[in-house]
Amino acid sequence: MAHIVTPWEVKGTIDYDRLVQEFGIIKLTSADLKRIERITGELHPYLTRGIFFAHRDLKWCLDEYEKGNKFFLYTGCGPSGPIHLGHLGVWRFTKWLQDAFGAEVWFQFTDDEKFLFKDLSYEEVQKWTHENMLDVIALGFDPKKTHFLIDTMHAGIMYPEAIKVAKKITFSTIKAAFGFTDSNNIGSIFYTSMQTVPVFLPNVLRHEKKPCLIPLAVDQDPHFRISRDVVEKLGHHKPAILHSVFMPPLVGMEGKMSSSDPDKAVLTTDDPATVKKKINKYAFSGGQATIEEHRRKGGNPDVDIAYQWLRYFEFDDQKLKKIHDDYKSGTLLSGELKAILIGKINEFLAEHQKKRKQAEKIVDKFLN
Ligand code: TRP
Repeated sequence: MAHIVTPWEVKGTIDYDRLVQEFGIIKLTSADLKRIERITGELHPYLTRGIFFAHRDLKWCLDEYEKGNKFFLYTGCGPSGPIHLGHLGVWRFTKWLQDAFGAEVWFQFTDDEKFLFKDLSYEEVQKWTHENMLDVIALGFDPKKTHFLIDTMHAGIMYPEAIKVAKKITFSTIKAAFGFTDSNNIGSIFYTSMQTVPVFLPNVLRHEKKPCLIPLAVDQDPHFRISRDVVEKLGHHKPAILHSVFMPPLVGMEGKMSSSDPDKAVLTTDDPATVKKKINKYAFSGGQATIEEHRRKGGNPDVDIAYQWLRYFEFDDQKLKKIHDDYKSGTLLSGELKAILIGKINEFLAEHQKKRKQAEKIVDKFLN
């Protein structure tokens, strides 16, 4: 089945090479990675493993950085439910970029978007906004260098800029970009202008002209394809972008993870027994039908979700390679591979849940 990738729908087996063509984005090369490493002194495994795989205008953004014009980072969260492991990739990587480049982060919570696009009340979306902020804070963003923007709460500073963006976008552009029809509600038509605002808002507030770098999952790119044209007309720089692939759902390589079926995603609030149960029950296995056959033929790590998820959680390259090779040769069984993943995720979540509790006390620091 051919893939579908829009900000509101991701389906099928995603062909990332085809996406690069369709979206007109540029694959990261080993020269790009070397350049990042030369500046930062280290490379995040999400770069070396191809989890971040493409970009727009990265070279320009790094040129400016090296001239002393440091970029700020912009990413976001659509607060429509609990946070699952699939959300964390982009945010953990953004936190690394913050540390490695000493960059400010502007983090948008699009409560308006989720109210307009989902069957949720305004109050439910506010609850999720609060819950989701705790997860973001728990990842360790520097409170002195990180600013949360909640679209309805910060409407006073965002709306004047959003209307400037909106005036430059026609309904036909939106229809073509997102496949909307005449029956979409009128708020959803306007929404992309709100997601555009943080691209330049920090510069407006401070009378500066710093580059903006946006780490995102590739389904968000269509918004910024529109933004990049518009913000230039408004006298701002086009943002640079780093694109990530989707962490696959527990049940197999198709589509992206979603919290609407909580049994099939691991949530950041799951306890160790729940994590174990979900992974053992649902994680698609690339192993063979019987132990004998597995020993003989070996497993397929390319489709095995336990292995694919370890690429996000086991940062030691040598350990990961050994697991890969042992699984492929049949030395390591599916159950053993799942046990490694369960241990790794529970270790991560124990720390995350502790920090998530502490986050309650410091939310205000991120909202100024
Ligand atoms: N629309 C995104 C979502 O539903 C949230 C978001 C807002 C975002 N601004 C962003 C994501 C910038 C990446 C980059 O999750």
